[in-house]
Amino acid sequence: MQDDVVVEGSESKMSGDWIRVADALEIKIGGAIVARHEGHQIAVFRLGESDFRAVDNLCPHEGYPLVQGYVKECVLTCACTRFG
Ligand code: FES
Repeated sequence: MQDDVVVEGSESKMSGDWIRVADALEIKIGGAIVARHEGHQIAVFRLGESDFRAVDNLCPHEGYPLVQGYVKECVLTCACTRFG
């Protein structure tokens, strides 16, 4: 179980409601994947050996996939800004 990547369920605000979305080995350090759960896309970033962050994959600005963005010092920048 320690190699599972889990995210807190967004539909329920109850703590302890975790959803397995990936195997940790599927994501290289510095990389990201899109996990899918019940019609939702979740961008999962691996920042370090056991440091994972997850957000909804759709940017609230114009809907670019956030998985295509980049993370620097724990700040996610949408790929949209490369074209703006
Ligand atoms: S779509 Fe993300 S900043 Fe524009």
